[in-house]
Amino acid sequence: MAPASSADSPADSDNAFSGGTPPVRPDIAALAPYIPGEQPQGGEWIKLNTNENPYPPSPTVAEAIREAATGRRLAKYPDPLATSFRVKMAELLGVEPDWILCGNGSDDILTILVRSFVGQGESLRMPYPSYILYRTLAGIQGARCHEVSFETDWSLSPAFAASRDGLRLAVIPNPNSPSGTVLRKEWLLEVAEQLPCPLVIDEAYADFAETDCVDLVRACEKVIVTRSLSKSYGLAGLRFGFAVARPEVITQLTKVKDSYNCDTLSIAAATAAVTDTGWLTETRDKILATRKRLEAALTNLGFLAQPSQANFVWCTHPQKSHKAIYEALKAEGILVRWMNFPSWGDGLRITVGTDEEIDAFLAAVAAILQRL
Ligand SMILES: Cc1ncc(COP(=O)(O)O)c(C=O)c1O
Repeated sequence: MAPASSADSPADSDNAFSGGTPPVRPDIAALAPYIPGEQPQGGEWIKLNTNENPYPPSPTVAEAIREAATGRRLAKYPDPLATSFRVKMAELLGVEPDWILCGNGSDDILTILVRSFVGQGESLRMPYPSYILYRTLAGIQGARCHEVSFETDWSLSPAFAASRDGLRLAVIPNPNSPSGTVLRKEWLLEVAEQLPCPLVIDEAYADFAETDCVDLVRACEKVIVTRSLSKSYGLAGLRFGFAVARPEVITQLTKVKDSYNCDTLSIAAATAAVTDTGWLTETRDKILATRKRLEAALTNLGFLAQPSQANFVWCTHPQKSHKAIYEALKAEGILVRWMNFPSWGDGLRITVGTDEEIDAFLAAVAAILQRL
C-alpha cells in the first residue's frame, strides 16, 4: 500500500502517533472499565460471587458439543443466525424464530443494542444500583448515562419514563441485580408506553422469578427482552444469550452484530440445553429451595436479607462492616460479592450455591460475625 500523503490525512498534530502508547479516543481513555466479579483460576473456592449455577449443565450439552466437534464441522463457519437455537427457543416462548437474535452471552446482546440505538452525545437511561455494564456500554459510544435511583424499597419512580433530549434507550434488569427484586409487569408496560425510546428488559435472571415479560414484546413495540443461558442453564462458560424483539428490530440489530458472534459448539450446546426442559425445572426448584433457606438463615444471623426472585440474595448488616465480612470469608476460601454503590451504600450479594456450599458459607459467616 502506498504511504498516506499529507493530502490523504489532514495534519492533526494532537492525534499523530509518534511512538509510545497509541492514543485511543479521549472518551475511551476517560472511561472507567467495567470490573467483573473475581474469577480465580485454580485453587479450591466456594464461589458465591458471580451468580453462576452451582450444578453442572444438562448432560445433553456435552453430547451435543462432542457431536458438533466431530468430522469437518469445526472446519466450516458456524450458522450466522444460530437457526437451530432460534427455532427451539421460538417454540418454547410462543414466538416466531425471526423474533430472536442470538449472541455471545447476553452481554454481547446488550452491546449490540447500545451500539444500535445510542449514538455519540445521546443518552441511555438505567436504574441505580443495577448492572453497571450498561453505563460502560454507553461510555464506549461516547454517550451519556442517565441513572435513576431506586427508592429504598427497590421500586422506581414513574419519572423513569420521562422524556429527555437525546434519550435513545432505557434498560431495566428484571429481576434486578444486586437486589434480586422485580418490578411489576403492568408497571413496566406503562413505562414502556410512555418512554420516548425502546425499553430493554434484561431478564438474565427471569427463570428464577415468578413472572417474565416476554409477552410485553407483543403488547408494546418498544419492548425488547434479553435473556442469558449463563445462570439458569448453568452455561456461564459457554457464552450464550439472546434477545426477543419484533422482527423489524431484529433485522436492524443483525446488521450490527459480528457475522459469526456464536460458534458452532455454543450453538449446538445451547440448543441441547434449552431442549432439556426437565433439567431446567429440576435445577431451578433446587436453587429456589436453597434460596429460601439462605434468606431465612441470613435473617437469623442479623442481616437484612432482601427477598429475592433471582439466584442470589442481597443483604446488609446493620452493625458489621460488609467489606470486613467479605475479606474474612475470602481468607477462608469463600467468595461472595461485596458491592459498593457510591451515594447508595454497600452490601453483600450472595449467589445461591448447593446446599453444602451454603451450609459452609453460613457456618463461616456466623463465626466471622462473632469475632468482628
Ligand atoms: C443483569 C445482568 N444482565 C446480563 C448479565 C450478563 O450475562 P451473560 O453471562 O449472558 O453475558 C449479567 C451477568 O452477571 C447480569 O447480572
